[in-house]
Amino acid sequence: MNFINQTLIKGFILHGISDIPELHVFTFFLILFIYLLGLAGNLAIVLLVCLDVHLHTPMYFFLSNLSIIDMSSSTTALHRIFIAFATQNKIVSPKACMAELYIFCSLTSNELSILAAMSYDRYVAICRPLYYHTIMSRRLCGLMTLVSWGFGFIEMVPTVVFVSQFTCYISKEIDHYFC
Ligand SMILES: *[C@@H]1O[C@H](CO)[C@@H](O)[C@H](O)[C@H]1NC(C)=O
Repeated sequence: MNFINQTLIKGFILHGISDIPELHVFTFFLILFIYLLGLAGNLAIVLLVCLDVHLHTPMYFFLSNLSIIDMSSSTTALHRIFIAFATQNKIVSPKACMAELYIFCSLTSNELSILAAMSYDRYVAICRPLYYHTIMSRRLCGLMTLVSWGFGFIEMVPTVVFVSQFTCYISKEIDHYFC
């Protein structure tokens, strides 16, 4: 009976972080503060790398790409808290949930690829110092970044399509703040 009731709700109910109403405002502002702090830090890294010509090296390009990924993934993970706080609506449609899952997992996979590219960059700098500038050319860096972004977003398609085939969920209530 409970199961039938649950399937009638079109979507998931995200309970967020705390069930105690008094803590809602506090946790909301705490999370908002940490989120904005992270956003400001990442934005500073991207701006610095763009503006300072001394930082126009592969390592810093990768770092600023990483900052962009970090900003996007924290926004993806946390935007539900902000929406739920503003509208008091805790119901998320399955499509929105899948989109969130897709974007978040793609960005995470992308982040790991960029980290691998960064470690390759350090490997070349340490083990092939004389050839560093020939090997880590602008073209190769651009290619590695492009492949990371492309691979991240393509790789997750089958997974999310597979997951979205499940129509029978164990529970529609999620004790979390993102899908
Ligand atoms: C990301 O990396 C590419 C290739 O290294 C670089 O051209 C681009 O400027 C980077 N993105 C940012 C925002 O720095």
